[in-house]
Amino acid sequence: MNASAQELAALLPPGFTLGVATAAFQIEGALDEDGRGPSGWDAFAAKPGTIVEDHSPAISCDHYHRMPEDVALMKELGIDSYRFSLSWPRIQPGGTGPVNPAGLDFYDRLIDLLLANGISPMATLYHWDTPLPLEEAGGWMNRDTAYRLGEFAAIAAAAFGDRVTRWVTINEPATVTTNGYALGMHAPGEALMLKALPSVHHQLLGHGLALQAMRAAKVRGEIGMTNVYSPMVPATVNPLDKVSAGIMDVAQNRLYADPVLLGQYPDVIRAATFFSSSFNPSSEDMDLISQPLDFYGMNYYMPTRVGAGPGDGAMPPGMAEAMGEDLSGAPGAFHVASFPDTETTAYGWPIKPEYLSVALAEMAERYPDLPPVYITEGGASFEDIVVRDAATGRRIVPDERRLRYLADHIRTALEATRAGGAAEAVDLRGYYVWSFMDNFEWSAGYKQPFGLVHVDFDTRVRTPKASYYWLQEVLAARNTAGADVGHEAADAGRQPVTADVEQPTVSAAVVPPIPAG
Ligand code: BGC
Repeated sequence: MNASAQELAALLPPGFTLGVATAAFQIEGALDEDGRGPSGWDAFAAKPGTIVEDHSPAISCDHYHRMPEDVALMKELGIDSYRFSLSWPRIQPGGTGPVNPAGLDFYDRLIDLLLANGISPMATLYHWDTPLPLEEAGGWMNRDTAYRLGEFAAIAAAAFGDRVTRWVTINEPATVTTNGYALGMHAPGEALMLKALPSVHHQLLGHGLALQAMRAAKVRGEIGMTNVYSPMVPATVNPLDKVSAGIMDVAQNRLYADPVLLGQYPDVIRAATFFSSSFNPSSEDMDLISQPLDFYGMNYYMPTRVGAGPGDGAMPPGMAEAMGEDLSGAPGAFHVASFPDTETTAYGWPIKPEYLSVALAEMAERYPDLPPVYITEGGASFEDIVVRDAATGRRIVPDERRLRYLADHIRTALEATRAGGAAEAVDLRGYYVWSFMDNFEWSAGYKQPFGLVHVDFDTRVRTPKASYYWLQEVLAARNTAGADVGHEAADAGRQPVTADVEQPTVSAAVVPPIPAG
């Protein structure tokens, strides 16, 4: 038994949810099957040069065809909850109008299988795969898309509202606006810089309309939304660095959280209204956006170190994908700097678990009425190797760094939010690992694996990594200790499916690596 698994299990409060997360476009493949319509991401990824090595999302993990196998792996893992997203273009191919019954059927089967295996479904309505006709009509720059999301929410609520445990309306609007509309590194590839501001408001309005539609449909589950949060750290004590970090804080964090949790945009953004006449939020819009939530979803990956001026011109590797080259609209006004002496992920993201405590504490301080919080994503990409277990000949993936990342971050979150912790005011209810399996990491293609489960993108063979077995130990240790296992599925009584999971008989650490294959 892994000591860190035991220790972490002992820290888990009763009822704390441990989950895994994915998103439809990143795992499903089957883009042209069973009546799915194209999305803005299909079109963007098809353009040469948009995705690393022109990797294609066409098959990805092939989850659309292998869903029962994947649920079986989740069951073996012993996870409480699975966060997935509903593919809007699979369910409503035109983004408005007729519904595709085959699309609904896929998620019907997924949700039923999860519940039959005691795994509670958390469904995200919008994880970036805008139906192409809506994208072509302006996407999130067009206010109409918000109403279309409200309509889609009503469809999803009618179909699955009786069984989904938790709903996330939208995922990381900051990334959609920054990478998609301001800088052009994600779909739809627009580089509008500050003129992208309306896409913020329209996404948040879409959240509000979706929430309203689901409340009207009286869904059984709880409803929240998910923002990414990165504490902004001035590079030095220089006041200009502090100002620069403050600007980034507004641009990446407060712009998205304040309207939802305080009912207003940050002052500096309200003052910037003149940049675009269409960014003119009414009080009716703000009321929709700030309706009470059952929970708030927070994605945490890393802090961001910010300095004034252009820096040395070099952005830490991977930061461009994550944060954008420049958010100010005036190139060189400030820059993202590396943290000294800090281990990084394959993306170049700094590994700083202590800043998860800072993030939670800042949330508590800024938002006195913060609802219960789920960390809806956290995880790390590393270059994994597949090795063969000397004793059994089975494939194993010794990803001790990912395991450590997860152990350190989950422990930090638990310690920060318990009595006497830096963020004790936060009612933290759960942590979802990004990601259940390696997948299509947007413009980084298959180059940044985040999974607990390795996917061979030639054969689609799944191999659980050491981090998977570690999390399995955490969950088993928690259950042995007699804690409230937090199984939330409404109907856990049906027959479980079984997985053909090959467990290594000896620890990866003692097996000499041999090449994959
Ligand atoms: C997104 C995921 C993404 C992950 C890692 C989050 O921004 O919600 O879709 O794969 O971070 O980059």
